[in-house]
Amino acid sequence: EVAQVLAGKKLLITAGPTREELDPVRYITNHSSGKMGYALAEMAMAAGAQVTLVSGPVNISAPKGVELVRVGSALDMHQAVLSRAQSQDIFVAAAAVADYRPASRVDQKIKKTGDNDDMVIELVRNPDILADVAALANKPFCVGFAAETRDLEHYARGKLKRKKLDMICANLVSIPGQGFNVDTNALDVFWKDGGKSLSLASKQQLAVLLVELIAERMAVARQ
Ligand code: PMT
Repeated sequence: EVAQVLAGKKLLITAGPTREELDPVRYITNHSSGKMGYALAEMAMAAGAQVTLVSGPVNISAPKGVELVRVGSALDMHQAVLSRAQSQDIFVAAAAVADYRPASRVDQKIKKTGDNDDMVIELVRNPDILADVAALANKPFCVGFAAETRDLEHYARGKLKRKKLDMICANLVSIPGQGFNVDTNALDVFWKDGGKSLSLASKQQLAVLLVELIAERMAVARQ
């Protein structure tokens, strides 16, 4: 039984990777499976929240009772999130959003040519979904993730401050059994004047702890 700590709250969450298309057959993506975000969506629901899950392409099914919005690219995800964010109490950004996309998507399959041994793909910056939500006048309680391979706290606190977040969940994705595409994870959670380490556990178990922590920090923030 999960305690009803989010009863009556509306929670919007992103999960999974994004897919940045080059042409009709190719795309740039990453190793996110959606497991962390889907576990959080499930446990937030179990804690009484009304959950909307904006998901990139993954191979797992959405928890029952969650409103699922399927998207492909970072631009699609940005649109789906920003059009819903204003009416939410909580926003959690668990998706691994591509920072860059191909400068243009070609309508026909790109062909190799006899005289070209090299190919250069030009990329342009994608909008930062989380930073844009956190900049809204009527913003929800904003929880980010940080996927790092070193200097976890330093980079995570940088993102917390720069993106004006309420909380950030940092994972070291260079350690086996943590981060992308596995069933377990470990998170160091930071907020302005504190933090908490959640040690290696299943993504479901971590999600229960995170939901409780979000409820706790929201209550403090409102005092
Ligand atoms: O999906 P799994 O296989 O279960 O793996 C889980 C996970 C490793 C993907 C997850 O735990 C995680 O860390 N997600 C965030 C990954 C990431 O892209 O981190 P980042 O440090 O690059 O981004 C920082 C934050 O900004 C994230 O909350 C991200 O969702 C958000 N962001 C980033 C870029 C962008 N254009 N828009 C964003 O909203």
